[in-house]
Amino acid sequence: MKALIAVLPGDGIGPEVVREGVRVLQAVAQRHGHDFTLVEADFGGVAIEATGEPLPQATLDLCLKSDAILLGAIGGPKWSAPDAKARPETGLLRLRKELAVYANLRPVAVHPALRSASTIRPEILEGVDLVFVRELTGGIYFGAKTRDATTASDLCSYSVAEVERVTRVAARLAQARRGKLTSIDTSNVLETSRLWRETVTRLMKAEFPDVTVEHALVDSAAMHLIRRPADYDVIVTENMFGDILTDEASMLAGSLGVSPSASLGDGTRGLYEPIHGSAPDIAGKGIANPVGTILSVALLLRHSLGLEAEAKEIEGAVYRALDAGLRTADIASVEVNGGKSVSTSEAGDVILRQLASA
Ligand code: IPM
Ligand code: MG
Repeated sequence: MKALIAVLPGDGIGPEVVREGVRVLQAVAQRHGHDFTLVEADFGGVAIEATGEPLPQATLDLCLKSDAILLGAIGGPKWSAPDAKARPETGLLRLRKELAVYANLRPVAVHPALRSASTIRPEILEGVDLVFVRELTGGIYFGAKTRDATTASDLCSYSVAEVERVTRVAARLAQARRGKLTSIDTSNVLETSRLWRETVTRLMKAEFPDVTVEHALVDSAAMHLIRRPADYDVIVTENMFGDILTDEASMLAGSLGVSPSASLGDGTRGLYEPIHGSAPDIAGKGIANPVGTILSVALLLRHSLGLEAEAKEIEGAVYRALDAGLRTADIASVEVNGGKSVSTSEAGDVILRQLASA
């Protein structure tokens, strides 16, 4: 199959993890005779340095004509002063909006080999397999902002149509999985949450009567997520709650470094990125965990290119590598390899070897 894939390494550890993701993508292409054209472009802080803007027009144009976009991470202390004129994060929000990728899938499955890497007791992690569907192009992230010397405000708004479309994505996922959807809001306080809950309730009844729906308030959901995580199947929630809860949920899987994401809209084009950030504190050291990016490559093949078998091959290679003791610094433990860890590129090597023997 032929595909154009935009590659946006970004800042900090972004280029380091994306390098490994690209190697995996190329290996899959070679193995299966696919013709992938990978085109790299500046995005985030590096783009601000080069052009003054986090999302240069040429990068946006490339993304808009691509079948899929693989992104590393953006941001860093250099561009985060309170009075900064251009911010990498602004570019990321604009890219998501321009691509209209309103549904952000963040799966969390606890691989048995990593149970001991989690800060949560292993017996709580038994059977955890959930997917967050985070609304990605609305809510408080995108509302009008005001600021004067003493006051600031951020507007949170949602329309029925915005809630419906992300709920449909989550509901279809639930149908293909264990048939359970949890919608998280703050409907005891926020008007947007009341609209959210009403809309989810009505839509699920009308279009997905076979899916079991449960509503939860965000504060208690944050608690239950680490108390009984195995009870969740698909979770749908608004943009900011989704941002916060998915960092929390990633710790179930052992590390922020192993969590992938797929951002999807109405078509098949998608944006794929690990959920971790640019990690300036470890950037340039070659110790970042590339698993979140490599699993994002699997999601790219599955959701944008329809290559399910290839996606499974990558996931299988990653899991076998972890079973065989692959540990980067973020998941190193004395029980495995005496606490020794491998570098980012060594981790890529191990996964590529597993892929070759699949
Ligand atoms: C994420 C990140 C971003 C977000 C930041 C970098 C704007 O935390 O993708 O989760 O909040 O969406
Ligand atoms: Mg986040």
